[in-house]
Amino acid sequence: MYRVGIITASDKGSRGERVDESGAKIKEVVGEFGYEVKFYKVLPDDKDVLAEEMKSLCDKNEVDLILTTGGTGFSKRDNTPEATLSIAEKLVPGISEAIRAYSMQFTKKAMLSRAVSVIRKSTLIINMPGSPKAVKECMECLMPTLEHGLDILTGEASECARK
Ligand code: MTE
Repeated sequence: MYRVGIITASDKGSRGERVDESGAKIKEVVGEFGYEVKFYKVLPDDKDVLAEEMKSLCDKNEVDLILTTGGTGFSKRDNTPEATLSIAEKLVPGISEAIRAYSMQFTKKAMLSRAVSVIRKSTLIINMPGSPKAVKECMECLMPTLEHGLDILTGEASECARK
């Protein structure tokens, strides 16, 4: 059972002015797939705050996977991809490319998400947009393939099974 950290990037949410439906949607979906939520926080859209929290979760090996929601768009306070890249050791472009390509069937605005996916130590970090609808759609694409990647990242599988 893989351990998940959920981070919602939202200035309003962090001040208690907005209910975090997207974080709740992530919790629901990972639960259906048998993952264990070990960490959940709503943080302001501040690059350094987001980066510090993600770095700490990775470096203390508290979770195998961090899923973020929010802050991937074009507004001045959308800083999640930059926070994620600032602590990345390896890039995993294929995950975000696949999510964006899959999402285009629902809305052409999917191309406006700047979400990234990276690895730091033994933790995979994946950004998703900020609406519960977007989270549902992105996770439809992500979840069926995610476990195989985590198996390899955490050493559960020594190599790709599909050779
Ligand atoms: N992806 C999916 N699957 N579904 C969506 O509704 N919304 C898009 C895009 N990606 C969307 C999506 C929109 S409208 C924007 S502006 C960007 O994600 C960035 O969203 P964010 O600022 O909430 O992170």
